[in-house]
Amino acid sequence: MSKRQSAADLGARASRLKPEMSWAAYALDGRVNDDYFRTNSYLESFPPGSFVIDVGCGSGWRLEEHIACGGRGAGTEVDEQSLVEARAKGLNVVRAPAESLPFETGSADGVIFSGVLPFTVEDQAFAEIARVLRPGGRLEAYYLGVGFALRDLFVNRDVRKRYYGLRSLVNSVMMGVANRKLPGKYGDTMYVTHRRLAELYARHGLILRAHTPSPTFMGQPVFIYHSVERSGVSK
Ligand SMILES: C[S@@+](CC[C@H](N)C(=O)[O-])C[C@H]1O[C@@H](n2cnc3c(N)ncnc32)[C@H](O)[C@@H]1O
Repeated sequence: MSKRQSAADLGARASRLKPEMSWAAYALDGRVNDDYFRTNSYLESFPPGSFVIDVGCGSGWRLEEHIACGGRGAGTEVDEQSLVEARAKGLNVVRAPAESLPFETGSADGVIFSGVLPFTVEDQAFAEIARVLRPGGRLEAYYLGVGFALRDLFVNRDVRKRYYGLRSLVNSVMMGVANRKLPGKYGDTMYVTHRRLAELYARHGLILRAHTPSPTFMGQPVFIYHSVERSGVSK
């Protein structure tokens, strides 16, 4: 099976899991989390040959898929073990935080930003993403919605996950009310809302182009998938 085929299979697997499935079914189905998070819809936004930066790339599996489909790119990480794993795959990765990207202004056709927002200083991360994207370039972003935290808090069998969900809710409320999170490692998790993202995009010259529905829990999105364009002269 070619790499392009396996990427297509992954997308098909994710799309078989219906966004409208009930929260009870969702909570009981351990595959859903992984399959939705592993969606590869970003591949459609980045044609072969395009240069894409995966910000907070982890082991670099999304970057790997993009390159397998004929793309070019680089990843950034702050975690040493993730850098080692990504380099072992032959990926071009650099140690750098999302808030200070070592790339030239307007040098990227695309940016992947997947599950990294809660660990960053949001404003600085978006300022950097907007800076490195060329006008008309795409940001493909995956965030955790409030449904993710609620689901962890109320139905996760793992007590640590419940505590994580609670922390996420507390941090998010604190951010909304006082523009701050819990100190140190307790501030490591937060959900994000469409409204908050709209503010951040507007501030940094980013335009939401597509929003893919995710499963919901108690009526709230578990994930938020956004395809966003850097304003300026379009392609
Ligand atoms: C939930 S993981 C997501 C990894 C990968 N993007 C994916 O989709 O599988 C979050 C990643 O963000 C990285 N990270 C944490 N703080 C960061 C920062 N300030 N800048 C860039 N990456 C950061 C972590 O090391 C971790 O690998």
